[in-house]
Amino acid sequence: MKIIIFGYMTSGKSLIGPKLAQKLEVPFYDLDQFIEANENMSVSEIFQTKGELYFRKKEHSYLPAFLQQPDGVYALGGGTPCYGSNLDIIKAQENAKTVYLNVSVAQLGQRLFHNKAERPLVAHLGTQAAVTEFVGKHLFERLSYYNQADYSINANGTPEETLTQLLKLLG
Ligand code: S3P
Repeated sequence: MKIIIFGYMTSGKSLIGPKLAQKLEVPFYDLDQFIEANENMSVSEIFQTKGELYFRKKEHSYLPAFLQQPDGVYALGGGTPCYGSNLDIIKAQENAKTVYLNVSVAQLGQRLFHNKAERPLVAHLGTQAAVTEFVGKHLFERLSYYNQADYSINANGTPEETLTQLLKLLG
């Protein structure tokens, strides 16, 4: 089976995904890494040199090949399910389950503020309050996509707590 993880930046996709894959003894795949390897550039560099629209087009064009890899745990980028026909492409996967890592705005604001350097969408924001305000609006725009995942789990706790919930859900 393919387990496809949705969630906002810092919701834990790339942190918990590999742990889940290890427990299930399956491979882990990360869309941002797939794009970086194919474009020979980091996601931040792509945003800086080519802009967000270029990134979204690349993300969309790599998505089918990314999802064609063997069964395992797949982490998408935070925006992947929310643009163009990406959600349809994801939902059309056979033998796949989508899981949304649901984290509160306050928690995301805090996590993102401390990890904003690698996040081009918020890197320019100066305070935690500004990051939290941005997240509040942005997450609201994305929720209708995230909520179309097959499962939604509360991912506000520690990575271990989230992993335990995921294993229960999938077991
Ligand atoms: C983005 C999230 C990032 C990356 C890009 C855009 C987004 O991935 O794809 O910076 O629009 O939410 P992570 O969610 O893994 O940080």
